[in-house]
Amino acid sequence: MQIHRFEEGLHGRVALITGAAIGNGRAFCERLAEEGAAIAIADIADASETVAAVRQITDRVCAYRGDLTVPHTVHSIVEQVVRDFGRIDVLVHNVGVYEEEPFELLSFEQWQRMLHVCLDSLFLTTQAVLPIMKRQSFGRIVALSSDTIWLGTPYLVHYVTAKSGIVGFVRSLAAEVGQYGITVNAVTVGLTATQDPSDRPLNRALLKDILPQQCIHRADEPHDIANVVAFLAMPAASIITGQAINVDGGVARH
Ligand SMILES: NC(=O)c1ccc[n+]([C@@H]2O[C@H](COP(=O)([O-])OP(=O)(O)OC[C@H]3O[C@@H](n4cnc5c(N)ncnc54)[C@H](O)[C@@H]3O)[C@@H](O)[C@H]2O)c1
Repeated sequence: MQIHRFEEGLHGRVALITGAAIGNGRAFCERLAEEGAAIAIADIADASETVAAVRQITDRVCAYRGDLTVPHTVHSIVEQVVRDFGRIDVLVHNVGVYEEEPFELLSFEQWQRMLHVCLDSLFLTTQAVLPIMKRQSFGRIVALSSDTIWLGTPYLVHYVTAKSGIVGFVRSLAAEVGQYGITVNAVTVGLTATQDPSDRPLNRALLKDILPQQCIHRADEPHDIANVVAFLAMPAASIITGQAINVDGGVARH
């Protein structure tokens, strides 16, 4: 059994990051690139700004555009990544949507859409990359969830249900794939200042409420989350699996 050193980083590794055209996903791409990984970005939106940001760090970056809730799209993106980079060591599943709605006003369509985007995309991308990781006898899967699953935040029944599903997914899958050197973890994220909070009135108001509840009284930044994602993605994190790591300044202390 080999114990990897932290300093090994992600040199020679290939990371596929979904939902990285904007927001936290962009920070994950930059952080994993700093650790030495080649970066493949999959998003339904144009990710050229993320590509440009990563190019400041490495030339080994490429974006693939498509809807990750569509099976044949996911399979063709994963095939393309392997053609371009030769392997996939890390999957960071970051695709998500956020929407508040009181439960009694929540339509069945809103409920279905939330579960579809958050969970079907996780199922499809994970199933597409697993055979590659098994062949390599190495893989790191990190899925982004939310601290609202510990807090039971109101007006988010569909969102909290979907994000709780991610934790069930990683717990069960971890037990199936550990034998192949593959770890599967979730990161439960608190409200993150993904842009200048002054650009987002809702975020500014929420941050004002949330900051006093945190043990660390400053806003979570995308790079705070990226540090944890990068650690879980590393060979050095080989003994951590089936976990949900909470990163929210200590609002939820589960
Ligand atoms: N930002 C926060 O405060 C916060 C808090 C808790 C959890 N999270 C979670 O962290 C993750 C990232 O958050 P964010 O704020 O950066 O999100 P974001 O909304 O800024 O980015 C989500 C990305 O997913 C992409 N996407 C959406 N549907 C897609 C699909 N069907 N196929 C391909 N790509 C698709 C979008 O184009 C976008 O680039 C999400 O899973 C979110 O739920 C964020």
